[in-house]
Amino acid sequence: MSTQDLENIPTNLSENEHFQDVVNRVAMSRRSVIKSGVGLSAAMFLGGSLAACSDDDNGATGSPVGTISFAAIAANSGDSILVPPGYQAQVIAPWGAPLFQDSPSWKGDASESADDQAKQVGDNHDGMHFFAIPGTDSNKEGLLVMNHEYINPEYFYAPGPDPMNPMEPWTLDKVRKALNAHGVSVIHVRKNSAGKWEIVIGSFYNRRITGRSPMDITGPAAGHNLMKTTADSTGRRVFGTLNNCGNGFTPWGTYLTCEENFNGYFGTLDGAYVRDANQLRYGMAATGFGYRWHEQDDRFDYAVNPNEANRHGWIVEIDPYDPTSLPKKRTALGRIKHENAALTISKDGHVVVYMGDDQVNDYVYKFVSTGKYIAGNLANNRDLLDSGKLYVAKFENGATAGDAAGIGKWILLDKTANATLNADANFADQGEVLVKTRLAADAVGATKMDRPEWVTVHPTSQEVYITMTNNSGRTVTDDANPRAANRWGQIVRWREAGNDPASVADFAWDLFVIAGNPHAFTDARAGSANVTTANSFNSPDGLAFDAEGRLWIQTDGNYSNTGNFLNQGNNQMLVADVKTKKIDRFLVGPAGCEITGITWTPDGRTMFINVQHPGEASGHPNAPTPTGGMSLDVFLTNNPTSFSTWPDRDPDSRPRSATVVISRTDGGKIGT
Ligand code: FEO
Ligand code: CA
Ligand code: CA
Repeated sequence: MSTQDLENIPTNLSENEHFQDVVNRVAMSRRSVIKSGVGLSAAMFLGGSLAACSDDDNGATGSPVGTISFAAIAANSGDSILVPPGYQAQVIAPWGAPLFQDSPSWKGDASESADDQAKQVGDNHDGMHFFAIPGTDSNKEGLLVMNHEYINPEYFYAPGPDPMNPMEPWTLDKVRKALNAHGVSVIHVRKNSAGKWEIVIGSFYNRRITGRSPMDITGPAAGHNLMKTTADSTGRRVFGTLNNCGNGFTPWGTYLTCEENFNGYFGTLDGAYVRDANQLRYGMAATGFGYRWHEQDDRFDYAVNPNEANRHGWIVEIDPYDPTSLPKKRTALGRIKHENAALTISKDGHVVVYMGDDQVNDYVYKFVSTGKYIAGNLANNRDLLDSGKLYVAKFENGATAGDAAGIGKWILLDKTANATLNADANFADQGEVLVKTRLAADAVGATKMDRPEWVTVHPTSQEVYITMTNNSGRTVTDDANPRAANRWGQIVRWREAGNDPASVADFAWDLFVIAGNPHAFTDARAGSANVTTANSFNSPDGLAFDAEGRLWIQTDGNYSNTGNFLNQGNNQMLVADVKTKKIDRFLVGPAGCEITGITWTPDGRTMFINVQHPGEASGHPNAPTPTGGMSLDVFLTNNPTSFSTWPDRDPDSRPRSATVVISRTDGGKIGT
């Protein structure tokens, strides 16, 4: 069951200009310039007449990049992790790995109960961050904190007595097992004397935060009537975090987990229930994404508990060092289908968080804290994310003819200060603006984007890069205008006025890469000039700068290896030099996976990435042909190693998400 594909269904029915329109009018009209090699250079990005960028016209002071030097690898459709020569990859912390002294071992047949799962690593690893443990060698030991986004029902449950109905009997324990596989794991990891990383089972730090864990609701929407349920009359306490996608982290040592497609877990048995504008805009549907939780637990029936879904779709702050601390849902950051959270500090100390809302036609956001970050002052910093201003982006045309850059504006989403929202009776107060962030952004005329996924900030220049993964919901009958179809995605970048992340003056934007396929096409569908037959990819998703300014690009796209995606192989990870715009493929994942999540030890010599959902077979060239009248998912449940055996290579196991530790065999820095 490909439960995550519903981002492709637009729920934004406002009339706001679609970002693709801007791309088509401004960027793609320049394609002949791009291909001729005179435009869209790093120097030209944000050059021109913009005052904010006047120091970078010749590229001399632009984003610095550490050395990139490795033998780029070819695309591949196999069932292995591939890395360049001189690199090695080790699997750690797969779904089901024990964390505590009393954790059951991974059984392999998915017969674990809900209680078993609560003591094991969760499923579908996603965003991740490595935290140093004070007093230890942080290049050999630390806390790996990671998200668990969803489950694959075809592998998650042991087959039932009826092979044709492997999910039956459907029970509350199965629902709770799924809830316990979501959320976050805090995992103490250590490099052993043989050079292998391993989980420190039973560590004081190890923790599972799940779809059932208690957490606080904080910020302007806490206690709002829209946040109250029969189980919580305060509107300040929620049980669980769901669909934990990308992540962020703060300089005061906390982890940010981002709730994305929360709507998919809700449904209703009440066929007569009429959804309101809020429920429609966030994609609530009677059968959700097919998880069937509402059949067993009416917390997930939106006709019975209409406000429960309002308590999801937030960014949650977690203290990984204190296993007894309650996570906090920070409502000041808005309620959207959060992809990740890229946090940086402004020139005068405000905390700035960039965020994308991953759905066709949704928006890019920025939060600027009221208070200022003070290094080393936890009492000052710990609740900085509870108060600030939330903005949504409007991307406009380039201000200068022939200039690669366009202009963007930040629109404040504030009930009092924004005249449009102030006059709009649909928002009684700021709490309602935040619960209904998407509707507020619609009202103020934000720019519709092509599924904003991860955003990242360059470590020194503070230029911002964000992936627009694709927009398969806007198909056309032919490929004459590939950007209208946008099968491959693009990466947008911008620089704030005065290079200050807190600025709300006009910013300047450009396209860093327009993905495409030069194997299949020689026209504009081949992508921008920095896309070649050696590096072509589709659907950029995960995105992160390392400490030296290399831009790591992870994909979650079509791995059919044919047609529009010819010779692009499995999902992969590439690295880009943002000065030269050169992109090289660094890693290819096993069959049916997505590559996501990225973090490093402080010395940059160990990299951790996640392989999510290996074995999602639909569309893969090596997918098995079901027999016995089964659907592919039912066939996979009954034959769980028929497509992928990654990572266990065990006929009595099944494919499972896992973290991969990457290092150089000579111990050098990754990417150099
Ligand atoms: Fe969870 Fe938009 O990826
Ligand atoms: Ca993603
Ligand atoms: Ca994606």
